[in-house]
Amino acid sequence: MDTGFWIEKWQQRQIGFHEGRPNASLQQWFHAMRLAPGDHVFVPLCGKSQDLLWLLGQGVRVTGCECSPLAVNEFFAENDLRPQSREAASGHVVHDCGELSLWQGDFFSLPAAVLNDADGVYDRAALIALPPDMRQGYVQKFRQELRPGTPTLLVTLDFQRDPAACNNYQGPPFPHTDAMVQAQYRDFSSIRKLGQRDILANEPKFRAQGATSVYEKTWLIHR
Ligand SMILES: C[S@@+](CC[C@H](N)C(=O)[O-])C[C@H]1O[C@@H](n2cnc3c(N)ncnc32)[C@H](O)[C@@H]1O
Repeated sequence: MDTGFWIEKWQQRQIGFHEGRPNASLQQWFHAMRLAPGDHVFVPLCGKSQDLLWLLGQGVRVTGCECSPLAVNEFFAENDLRPQSREAASGHVVHDCGELSLWQGDFFSLPAAVLNDADGVYDRAALIALPPDMRQGYVQKFRQELRPGTPTLLVTLDFQRDPAACNNYQGPPFPHTDAMVQAQYRDFSSIRKLGQRDILANEPKFRAQGATSVYEKTWLIHR
C-alpha cells in the first residue's frame, strides 16, 4: 500500500477518517505528554486534521507529514492560511506557516532530523492506515530517529468485524489491538494505556462495514 493509494483516496473523497473537529482523546490526554510552551510536536500522516490547529493553540510548534497534496492544500485553504512553500532536498514540499510546518510527501523518506527535533509525537489513526506488514518499519523509524525519552500520544482504533457482514474485507482501516501495540513498541522504554472509549454508536460507516465493536484507545509511549 503505497502513497499513490492514499493520494487516490483523497481524490475520490474517501476520507471518512477526517473528524472535522479536534479529537476528543487528544484534548483529554495531551497534558500527559508534559510538554512545555514552545516544544515541538510531530504529527505523522496528519491528513487535514483540525488537531494541528488545536495543538498550535496549546502553544507548541507543530510539524505534520502528509502524502496527499490535495489534503495539504485543503487544510490551508479551509483554514484561511497562506503558507510559504519550498522544496526540501528530500523531495518533500515543505509548507511553513508561523509555528506550523507541513511536509507533503512520504513519511518513510522524511529526513531523520525532523523526528530527531521532536519533543513529542501525536499520532492518530496512522497505524490503522498501514497494513500489518508496513507497521514494523513505521515504528522502527520512530525508534531510530526520536531522542530517548520522547513521548508519543498514540490514538488508535481497535475493532472487530463480522467477516460474513463485510465480505471478508480486510481494510484499511486495519484494527490495532492491544497485543499489536505492545509488540510493535516493545523496544521503547515505556508503554501505558491511558484509556479507551466505545465509539461504535458514533461510527455508522464502521457498522456498515460489519463492525461489531469499535474502541478508540489512547496510549502514552516513551522512546
Ligand atoms: C487514516 S488517515 C488519518 C489522518 C489524520 N491523522 C487524522 O486524524 O485525520 C491516514 C492519512 O495518512 C496519509 N498517508 C498514508 N500513507 C502515508 C505515507 N507513507 N506518508 C505520508 N502520509 C501518508 C493518508 O493520505 C491519510 O491522510
